[in-house]
Amino acid sequence: MRTVDLIEKKVQHGELTTEEIAFLIKGFLDGTVPDYQMAAMQMAIVFNGMTDREATDLTMQMMHSGEVVDLSGLKGVKVDKHSTGGVGDTTTLVIAPLVAACGGTVAKMSGRGLGHTGGTLDKLESIPGTQTEIPLDRFRRIVDNIGVAVIGQSGDLDPADKKMYALRDVTATVRSIPLIAASIMSKKLAAGADAIVLDVKVGNGAFMRTRAEGETLAKLMVEIGDRVGRRVIAVITDMNQPLGMAVGNALEVKEAVELLSGKIPAGDPLYEICMLLGTKMLRLSDLADSDETARNMLTEALENGSGLKKLRQMIAAQGGDASFLCMERIDELVRVREMTPVYAAEEGYLYAIDTERVGTAAQMLGAGRATKADTIDPAVGLVMKKRIGDYVRKDEPLCMIYSNDPAKTEDSAAMFLSAITISQNKPEHHPMVYCVIGDEN
Ligand code: URA
Ligand code: CA
Repeated sequence: MRTVDLIEKKVQHGELTTEEIAFLIKGFLDGTVPDYQMAAMQMAIVFNGMTDREATDLTMQMMHSGEVVDLSGLKGVKVDKHSTGGVGDTTTLVIAPLVAACGGTVAKMSGRGLGHTGGTLDKLESIPGTQTEIPLDRFRRIVDNIGVAVIGQSGDLDPADKKMYALRDVTATVRSIPLIAASIMSKKLAAGADAIVLDVKVGNGAFMRTRAEGETLAKLMVEIGDRVGRRVIAVITDMNQPLGMAVGNALEVKEAVELLSGKIPAGDPLYEICMLLGTKMLRLSDLADSDETARNMLTEALENGSGLKKLRQMIAAQGGDASFLCMERIDELVRVREMTPVYAAEEGYLYAIDTERVGTAAQMLGAGRATKADTIDPAVGLVMKKRIGDYVRKDEPLCMIYSNDPAKTEDSAAMFLSAITISQNKPEHHPMVYCVIGDEN
């Protein structure tokens, strides 16, 4: 087999066989397929796509390129959840413990934030002492004991994805639906879950800008799951404004603790998306046979405090100081040098938000990384005071900035204001959820 012939085949809109895809991925990892040939192949895939069968074969080759985590010794359906990334997306900190409190088994591997999006590991590490680099046997033991743990991906997981992504990043080949689907699904499958709920974000703060793109990606990931015998449900949700009100690491932990303490009402977007994702996780875990039953279980775990208790157990098991995780002490984690309200230049309706810029405004304070080497200030960020559709008076702040550096406060406030459109017209209503894919019920 010659790599050049496989590239030519894809250039001519051909379909690669299972053996050809295996040859490519193995060769790329062992160096017999050089970067320039892989880059050419990825570019051909960007333009000419892949069939569902090819995307599934690519996923399986990538999944098996490194360690595959064995969770078979743990009881119950191992359920995972993945978000394609957004701003103010604190769902994992809420639903991983909440689902575990309802009897679910949540063995989750998460990522770090890069650019304008936050990462669950950074949020967890804003709780003093919390470790996210935990050996697999200890990870399994924690999940066995308390039903939930959230750690970083082990270094040996899916090396094909690491190498392919690095190449895609510098060759403008990130935006290909089969390449994205294979990248996400190969990591989730290698992490050992039996069932996966995918939260595909669409909008100006997400990777997928349109609902149509998001649906195509979601359908392909559900199809890949079906073809390899894993249960996958995808929900398509809105990211045309931050999901929660808080953007920043400890600030998002605080919002999760507020939610788990019953301080955030039903109908709030973060609350509702957590309930939706949690409902599908319980259904895929065979712990509830209808959405209604699942939602009732989650509501009860919220109201009786068992979800918050589970979060504290998880943090303690991962070495963290869980005593901060209550309404009495959580503010100690978000103490900063200055808190600055940001006001709109004119009165009117909050008409639109450039969500990526809101993420960037938080990143500029030190809440996120511009490059992988940057360090994070866990306490800083911003808290939105208004959502799209709210009327904003001159004396009402749009947001509160939490900063440890006055120079950064000013830049961040300017970035935040540049993200905001105020209008005399009330905007159309934005749905929180566009659709659910892969749920036969
Ligand atoms: N997230 C991933 O993990 N992979 C992609 O290719 C894009 C987003
Ligand atoms: Ca299915």
